[in-house]
Amino acid sequence: MKTIFSGIQPSGTLTLGNYLGALRQFEQLQDDHECYFCIVDEHAITVPQDRLKLRKNIRSLAALYLASGIDPEKSTLFIQSEVPAHAQLGWMMQSISYMGELERMTQFKDKSEGKSAVSAALFTYPSLMVADILLYGTDIVPVGDDQKQHLELTRNLAQRFNNRFNDIFTIPEVHIPKVGARIMSLQDPTKKMSKSDENVKGFISMLDDPKKIEKKIKSAVTDSEGIVKYDKENKAGVSNLLTIYSSCTGESIESLEQKYAGKGYGDFKQGVANAVIQVLEPIQKRYYELINSPELDEILDEGQQKASFTANKMLKKAKKAMGLGRVRK
Ligand code: TYM
Repeated sequence: MKTIFSGIQPSGTLTLGNYLGALRQFEQLQDDHECYFCIVDEHAITVPQDRLKLRKNIRSLAALYLASGIDPEKSTLFIQSEVPAHAQLGWMMQSISYMGELERMTQFKDKSEGKSAVSAALFTYPSLMVADILLYGTDIVPVGDDQKQHLELTRNLAQRFNNRFNDIFTIPEVHIPKVGARIMSLQDPTKKMSKSDENVKGFISMLDDPKKIEKKIKSAVTDSEGIVKYDKENKAGVSNLLTIYSSCTGESIESLEQKYAGKGYGDFKQGVANAVIQVLEPIQKRYYELINSPELDEILDEGQQKASFTANKMLKKAKKAMGLGRVRK
């Protein structure tokens, strides 16, 4: 059976982009793969976090994973900082990462642009992500489009380690959904939808209530043409809404274009809002049942144990390959 690993940062309430680009694929994959899903809290602290909010977001993300269909009987759900092997292998991966290749990471460039105080961890963050993936002998990493470059680095570092030391790491493949891999901001459709967007109208949170969802979609930026047609270059706003609609309902973009031919954006936006609400409402219901339940802690405790067992075995091999530790007499 092939192994899957993916992670999400607990840096705010997840957006519809996180769901359509990543989370939704996880549920489908867990039936015929060995799956590890991680709450990557050590990645979140590469930028300043409020400690109380961070802790709340970690729990909230665990509940959202489960509410979105992650089944603890089938998958291992755990918190990165509760499995110290991640930070340890992360350090080892830093030692074989080159400054030049980390400097080329577009996510680092985006997140550090214009900021005066950028942490060293933000820069070396991709090496930790590499460790996350390699610790589990991962074959496939399901992610949204923005993580492609980090996955390329993961493959390179795995190969470099295997060539330089010992052939212990699996070279993982990236898995990106056909529709929904890059959901854009509702206010600026040239930018990706992000949970850290200062303009809350730009993103739909997975916990927004139906009224809020409707309001945000109704105020989404479109154009003055009044034609529902997919054209990413010239009609970025409408194209993004079509992607969201198609992704939520499974209906093809062409069939949606036909459905709204001759109708204005008002009807179309109402359709998009209904489709999003239909996807998010049942998840929200399960989320509120789970968020305060002790069952959530039991699942995370068990996840920690299972993940630690696998990760520690790989860490031991990696340390030996690199010559860390001592020779016992
Ligand atoms: P993060 O927390 O930013 O996002 C989590 C997942 O959501 C996807 N995503 C999107 N997909 C479509 N449209 C969007 N607008 C959108 N925004 C986010 C991301 O591609 C991602 O799959 N570095 C990772 C976390 C990570 C990780 C890992 C992932 C750490 N270690 C190991 C996979 C494997 C990140 O910051 O994702």
